[in-house]
Amino acid sequence: MYNFKVTSIIHDYEVHFIDSLKQSIDSVLMEGDYIIIDNIVKDLYDEYLQDALDTHKFIGIDANEKTKSYQGVESVIEELIQNGFRKNHRLVAIGGGITQDVTAFISSIMYRGVNWIFYPTTMLAQGDSCIGSKTSINFGRFKNQVGGFYPPSYIYIFPPFKDTLKEKEIRSGMGEMLHYFIVSGKEDFDFYRDTFKAAFTEKDALSGIINKSLEIKKRYIEIDEFDKKERQVFNYGHTFGHAIESLTQYRIPHGIAVSYGMDMSNFVSVKMGLIPSEVRDEIREVTSYIWEGYPIDDIDIDTYINALSKDKKNVGMQLGLILNKGYGNIFKNLTDSDKTFREWIEEYFLNELK
Ligand SMILES: NC(=O)c1ccc[n+]([C@@H]2O[C@H](COP(=O)([O-])OP(=O)(O)OC[C@H]3O[C@@H](n4cnc5c(N)ncnc54)[C@H](O)[C@@H]3O)[C@@H](O)[C@H]2O)c1
Ligand SMILES: [Zn+2]
Repeated sequence: MYNFKVTSIIHDYEVHFIDSLKQSIDSVLMEGDYIIIDNIVKDLYDEYLQDALDTHKFIGIDANEKTKSYQGVESVIEELIQNGFRKNHRLVAIGGGITQDVTAFISSIMYRGVNWIFYPTTMLAQGDSCIGSKTSINFGRFKNQVGGFYPPSYIYIFPPFKDTLKEKEIRSGMGEMLHYFIVSGKEDFDFYRDTFKAAFTEKDALSGIINKSLEIKKRYIEIDEFDKKERQVFNYGHTFGHAIESLTQYRIPHGIAVSYGMDMSNFVSVKMGLIPSEVRDEIREVTSYIWEGYPIDDIDIDTYINALSKDKKNVGMQLGLILNKGYGNIFKNLTDSDKTFREWIEEYFLNELK
């Protein structure tokens, strides 16, 4: 199986792919470790986790955006302090991106920083968010507004967690990982295109895609951990995608929205003469497979353009879009939100979603 190390300004950390969840947890956990676990995962994986939960203190959390908030983490911190959690103890997160963000945020502030370990259980967390050090939580109704950078010491990836995920979480994870392969270059895109359908059902194909996705992300975060420059290309598909997520009240999950977002970015890139339409069509064969069954044709165009104008990458009146000049040549472009741009978006929603 795959193993590698990520270099970080805060502290280096290791990623290990594991074959047995029970064996790993039973051998990794030490006295004093405190488990923070997604309640759904706790129930589903009871037989593998029971020994660890019997011998260690744990807090079960409901993985929703409310839990991942300034108020939501308060009760967790209180419980940790009351139950004797100390600076030399470690937190062990078992869950998806929500459990990750809650645990990372708490680890970064408790006693000025405690070590933590992560067992990601969603495809998005395994193939993307588990590395990169980000720790944001929500503030009120504003998403990911408070946080910093604080990686775990160890990440243990058990790909069969996929077997209990809902279909839309699998599509979302596959869509999220895709953007790394396009940013990376043609060879990696071809690998993804040739493997991704098998990854929906075959463990080895999925492990290969997760590993490659993390390998690509690792290259960028090691040179730009704090997201100042090089790492920003990973917003490819995200400006268009975030607007889709919020306007559908999150009915369209993140990675599916990003798949639409990449197609919209490619559509605009074709309009600007940056790529031939063949490139867009080739990528669309993949994205349309991912978003199948999750239509977005009910979105109102004016509301959509208004939502794009709120993106934090915008500068003045210009949209900070991540566009496509070809595989491995994704870049940030300041684009006027003018009449022509509006016509492109209109055309996209009216003609391109059939
Ligand atoms: N820190 C980062 O770098 C980063 C990056 C991307 C996203 N995020 C955040 O991650 C969150 C989304 O995370 P996510 O999509 O990984 O999932 P999640 O944690 O929101 O979980 C999604 C659902 O799946 C359930 N679940 C988790 N694992 C399961 C399993 N193995 N089987 C069955 N059900 C399971 C959860 O209980 C929940 O109902 C968002 O809040 C997002 O902002 C953080
Ligand atoms: Zn994303």
